[in-house]
Amino acid sequence: MSVSKAAPKGGLEGIVAGDSAIGYLDGEKGELRYCGYLIKDLADHSNFVETVWLLWHLELPNKAQLEELRTSLLAERALPGIVYDVLKTVAQHQEPMDALRTAVSAMSADDVPGEVTDRRSNLRRGIRLTAKFPTIIAAHERLRQGKKPLEPRSDLSHAGNFLYMLTGEVPHPEEERMFDTCLVLHAEHGFNASTFAARVTAATLADLYAAITSAIGTLKGPLHGGANTAVMQMLLEMGSVANVEPYLDRILARGGKVMGFGHRVYKVMDPRALILKDFSQRLAKVKNEPRWYEMSAKLEALMKARKGIDVNVDFFSASTYYYMGIRPELYTTIFALSRIAGWVAHVLEQYGNNRLIRPEANWIGAAPRPYVPLGQR
Ligand code: ACO
Repeated sequence: MSVSKAAPKGGLEGIVAGDSAIGYLDGEKGELRYCGYLIKDLADHSNFVETVWLLWHLELPNKAQLEELRTSLLAERALPGIVYDVLKTVAQHQEPMDALRTAVSAMSADDVPGEVTDRRSNLRRGIRLTAKFPTIIAAHERLRQGKKPLEPRSDLSHAGNFLYMLTGEVPHPEEERMFDTCLVLHAEHGFNASTFAARVTAATLADLYAAITSAIGTLKGPLHGGANTAVMQMLLEMGSVANVEPYLDRILARGGKVMGFGHRVYKVMDPRALILKDFSQRLAKVKNEPRWYEMSAKLEALMKARKGIDVNVDFFSASTYYYMGIRPELYTTIFALSRIAGWVAHVLEQYGNNRLIRPEANWIGAAPRPYVPLGQR
């Protein structure tokens, strides 16, 4: 480590860290594609289960393949006893993202041993994880509220069943479709922080559960997936459209970051944010509660005018989920219940052509020096 190399800008900005055929984003154009398909086309025409297949196999499924994945996910929705027991133990002590991380760790105890990098075994594990995330998140939430978790229902879609297990009510079909589209939008995003963490872990030949646990821990932070919860907390603190500007003034005066704005890669509006803005606006009308949408739209305009910074995917997802009656503390777990699709896809890709990920540091420490015995210090 004695060789000093040019210090990068920090945060690996602009560094190409490997090859991938899963998610493509062009930050200058504001374009996102999964395996070549535009995110807007997938949002309009696809659904979460089909998107999962696409990300894992890099092609859209035919009818039989889609039906097989749908049936496999249905069969894996229930929680093993060990995971349920862990959730009961941590319910009052761990926040939703921490409980999800703990539950995924516990899931490995219930899995059959298998070759770490075997694609078939990992597709099976991927199905287990994707199917059980909604059940884990909903069970933890109900336990925290002192309620009994609800059994998953096999007559409901992936999205519909999650909303049912959370609230005890079968969602309106339009809301179910909207939520499913939210899952499509969040499923994949290239070498983002949590996906990269999963790939770093997988590249050591640790197993899929270890990689997904790393990813959940990374998604939690407010500079990444944790921002959607922080956005809603901010809107609730503001409370009214009239308070938006003075609240923003206070954040900017102390040089603070406004949650839900800015992105490392996008230099223009994130295409997912446009779709989520429309959802928030539509729900504001349906629920006859314009406040959260109007506050969001005002903040968006003010930030653009003052700082030239656009919203990111977390901004309008916050008010969208709030209109759906979901507590803000859960928003980052909703991100995870979608992003599990992308994480698994990237771990499969990493195992398929693996090399240890091990960068170097630029040395900024002390010059070489002799050891000084304790008595001479
Ligand atoms: N509010 C105010 N100013 C901002 C914001 C923001 N949200 N985002 C960036 N800026 C400013 C910075 O202060 C900095 O200004 P300066 O050059 O005058 O110091 C400049 O824009 C560049 O910001 P960086 O933080 O250096 O950009 P970076 O690429 O490292 O960070 C990040 C990207 C972390 C997303 C940042 O924009 C941020 O903190 N946003 C708020 C948190 C958030 O919404 N995170 C979710 C991101 S999307 C996702 O992960 C799913």
